[in-house]
Amino acid sequence: MESQIQSLQTKALEAIASCIDESQLEAQRVGLLGKGGELTGFSDRMRELSKEEKPRIGKVLNEVRAAVTAALETRKAALTAEREAKIFEGVDVTLPGVSFPAGAIHPITQLLDRTVRIFRRMGFALADGPDIETEWHCFDALNTPADHPARNEADTFYLPDGRLLRTHTSTIQIRTLEKMAPPVRIIAPGAAYRRDEVDATHLAQFNQMEGLYVDEDVTLGDLRGTLEFFFRELFGNDAEFRFRPHFFPFTEPSFEVDIKASALGGGRWLEIAGCGMVDPAVFEAVNARRGDHALDPERHTGFAFGFGLDRLAMIMSGVPDIRHFTDSDQRFLSQF
Ligand code: PHE
Repeated sequence: MESQIQSLQTKALEAIASCIDESQLEAQRVGLLGKGGELTGFSDRMRELSKEEKPRIGKVLNEVRAAVTAALETRKAALTAEREAKIFEGVDVTLPGVSFPAGAIHPITQLLDRTVRIFRRMGFALADGPDIETEWHCFDALNTPADHPARNEADTFYLPDGRLLRTHTSTIQIRTLEKMAPPVRIIAPGAAYRRDEVDATHLAQFNQMEGLYVDEDVTLGDLRGTLEFFFRELFGNDAEFRFRPHFFPFTEPSFEVDIKASALGGGRWLEIAGCGMVDPAVFEAVNARRGDHALDPERHTGFAFGFGLDRLAMIMSGVPDIRHFTDSDQRFLSQF
């Protein structure tokens, strides 16, 4: 038996040395040391031996098992190293690596995030609505007469089915009031679309921020206080405001907000937002659609406002051309 064990060692060491990959080597290991393996077989036969032979053969068997185990490990290390070396064949690992420059948040998104944070502090929740809208949500419910110029095919993108790309985010006032009853206090950022000639101050798609607050006893003072607080957070406490009477079909009275602040170069007034008290006609239109009287013009009042995020970002950063925001030019974007 001893010579059988010895010759198995010779044969095993040769087989291990000639394995050319890790799976062959694993097959050898199982064939030798596995459950039905050859060396294991000898261990099982130990009990056939006499008392005198047992210790001697046992010792030989242990030595052979140790030699085979060591050979398996050495060969495995060599094969692994060989395989890994192949991966890097032809690759100069001393070359400098490829750098992945970190991106940055787009300036409009930065302004949007700041805006949302400020309004959240005043209890405004986020709302949204679809970019493709019905004429009813975009115009009729907002008290806009059929002959209003904004409804013109020349100003608005109409789809063949009569729907349109919303020309302002005021549609979300309607979308929100359809679903909720007062108190309602939301802001809604989103894209708006107009068939404008694209130039330094116009894009056919731009970004607006809408606001709506409806409850009992909401006053023009609340509207002023809310907008002044917001714009002072953005432009600093020395900001001055002018609420200039204006006209929007869905607010009465309506205003345009002008601002002057040292952070904006001081000096001249800049027009930055439209706003007003929600016209009761809007409440009635939504009630008719809802089929209830959730909005009671006798009890409820509200204010709404809207401003352009692109225009605001231009004013704040002194960007002379709105098209920079959509050109994806790294030289422009990396400045923010
Ligand atoms: N929707 C108006 C616009 O696009 C802005 C506005 C919103 C005015 C809310 C009043 C109230 O010009």
